[in-house]
Amino acid sequence: MNAETAPASPLASLLDHARQAALHSYSPYSGFRVGAALRLTNGETVTGTNVENVSYGLTICAERAALVRAVTQFGPEIRIEAVAIANLNGSASPPCGACRQVLAEFIQPEAPVLFPAADGVRTMAFSALLPLAFEMKLK
Ligand code: THU
Repeated sequence: MNAETAPASPLASLLDHARQAALHSYSPYSGFRVGAALRLTNGETVTGTNVENVSYGLTICAERAALVRAVTQFGPEIRIEAVAIANLNGSASPPCGACRQVLAEFIQPEAPVLFPAADGVRTMAFSALLPLAFEMKLK
């Protein structure tokens, strides 16, 4: 089987979904077009893109847009088993700290996270990207 007939790996296809989502980016202020794709344990893939705002601070990142969409579509029991992030600017874009904390709520610690790095697409386990997520344990 050659590269053209071989089925794309699930993670390569997730990256492709992220790139497609980035095409819908609303980013008139930064021009940075980001897409995110989440693979859920129920087999579904959900995408999101960044949606900017003239107030800047109200901008929604692609990762959080995807997460909110996933919960809205499939409910609060979702678990994320893989994440892919892409941008159309040829830049590195690991998920921002705020998005890591928000993803932590629904993601499996060992879930691979694919993101554009300086030397190409990098894959890291979520637990390595956010080793000490905030947790609230009331006494
Ligand atoms: N952005 C994301 O979509 N995800 C991140 O993890 C970091 C940044 C977006 C927000 C803004 O629209 C643009 O990238 C530049 O910061």
